[in-house]
Formats: sequence, C-alpha cells, structure tokens
Amino acid sequence: MERWINKVAVITGASSGIGATIVKALVKKNVKVVGLARRLENMEKIKNDLNNDKRDLFFPIKCDVSKEEDILNSFKWIEENLKSVDILVNNAALGTKYLCIESSTENIRNVVDLNLIGPTICIRETIRIMKEKNSPGHIFNIASILGQNIQIFHGITFNLYGPTKFALKAISDVIELELESIKSPIKVTTIYPGLVKTEMPPPIAFKVFPYLDADDISDAVLYALSTPPHVQIKELTITPLQTYQREENEQ
Ligand SMILES: NC(=O)c1ccc[n+]([C@@H]2O[C@H](COP(=O)([O-])OP(=O)(O)OC[C@H]3O[C@@H](n4cnc5c(N)ncnc54)[C@H](OP(=O)(O)O)[C@@H]3O)[C@@H](O)[C@H]2O)c1
Repeated sequence: MERWINKVAVITGASSGIGATIVKALVKKNVKVVGLARRLENMEKIKNDLNNDKRDLFFPIKCDVSKEEDILNSFKWIEENLKSVDILVNNAALGTKYLCIESSTENIRNVVDLNLIGPTICIRETIRIMKEKNSPGHIFNIASILGQNIQIFHGITFNLYGPTKFALKAISDVIELELESIKSPIKVTTIYPGLVKTEMPPPIAFKVFPYLDADDISDAVLYALSTPPHVQIKELTITPLQTYQREENEQ
C-alpha cells in the first residue's frame, strides 16, 4: 500500500455504509480521500471521528452523483486543490421498492442516473486527470450479486437496480478495453458484494439471510490496491458464508 501514501482517492457515497468504511480504511493508510455524497453532515461526523493526525486527509464534498453539474464542480475543486485523482471508487447507488411495471419514468430514470450515468461521468473525469498527471491509478466499480442474478425478495425486485449493476460490469469491461487500446496502466476492478449490513437493504433481510460487514468490502479494495503493477484483479465476488451462524450479540 506504500505507493498510495499521499495519493488522492475519490469515493462516491462516502456518507454511510460501504463508502464510509472505505474512507476510513484509506485514510488509515495515509491516502488523501475525497468523499462525495449529499449528506455533508454525515461526512463531517466521519471526519471528526478520525484520529487527530488523520483528520486533514479527508475532504467531504456535498455532491449529488446523479447530477452532472455537481460531479463536474467536485472534480474541478479536486483538480484545483489536490491536483490529482489516483483512485476512484464508484460506490453511490440507489435501489427502489417500486415495481418496474408500476413505477413512474422519473423513478426509473433516477436509478439509471445515479447507478450508471453518474459513475460513467466520474470515470471519464478521473481518467482525464489520471492521463494528464500520468497516474497509474485504480478504478473500482461497486456492483452487486444482483448484477449477476436478478432476484426477488418479499415481492421486491429493486426495479432497475439489478439491471444497472449488470451494466456497471459491462461499463468496467468497456473502460478496461479502451484503457488497453491506449496502453494505459490504469486498473479497473469490479466488486460484487452479497448482502452487507448497511442502511440500504430492508432491515428484515438481516434476520433472514447471512450477511457481510462493510469492512469485508473495504478489505477487498485494500487487497486489490496492494497488488503489484502487473496484477489486474478484474472482479471479486464476496458473499457471506451461507452456513455461518452469528452469535446473538454480533447481530
Ligand atoms: N448493502 C448491501 O447489501 C449491498 C450489496 C451489494 C452491493 N451494494 C452496493 O454497495 C454500494 C454502497 O451501498 P451501501 O450498502 O453502503 O448503502 P448505504 O449505506 O445506503 O450507502 C449509500 C451511499 O450512496 C450515497 N448516495 C445515495 N444517493 C446519492 C446521490 N444521489 N448522490 C450521491 N450519493 C448518493 C449515500 O449518501 P447520501 O444519501 O448522503 O447522498 C450513501 O453514502 C452501492 O453501490 C450498493 O449497490 C450493497
């Protein structure tokens, strides 16, 4: 991880769950981290909870990742103030309980804007800066096992959540091929988590199914980042061990 010290990481959806955990894990490794999310107050709390010597490494920015203008303003600030982007984690996403066959076009579009268009703009801006700075950087797309198999839970399909996660994998493939064609050393990794205990899934899911902790996903990010330059961790599927029983006090 030494080569990432003082480098700049951008994490979308940094205000809770997996994104917040990745922020803490990277800051601990002395990486400068920019967090993008709408709940600035959550990110300020994360910053305040960091050890004194790490606090200045975290830069929260209020940003709605479904809005191009917000993304472009955030990257402008990063370029002007931190001069580089070396790691991007496309983590912000949205699922909705409304059935696809009943939901408004606006609801459908919101999912696509945040889960697909936003990450693609973040990747474009990141690669532009990485190329300018000659940074052999690393891009992560946080997909989901629902981007490998569509499932239904208590009558909820999560609308276009699954389809956008399938497409995020395809976007990773497109970006990887485009980077190869320009002989770029930038790496792309897609992570497919199973159920993770965060604010996103319906709470009843944690009573019914085994689950991961957000740390299990940040550990995977650290692992991929720690590989030598010739190693590409293309995809990681991380699921809870189905037979693992948590202790009562662990739940
Ligand atoms: N939890 C799971 O079981 C699970 C399983 C597989 C994959 N994943 C994936 O893991 C990633 C993180 O989810 P999580 O489980 O950590 O859920 P979470 O705790 O609900 O976090 C979602 C994050 O996305 C941000 N976000 C939502 N809408 C946004 C917007 N318009 N603009 C900017 N940020 C926005 C939220 O911040 P604000 O509300 O402050 O904007 C929050 O920081 C997602 O890509 C999700 O699909 C989760």
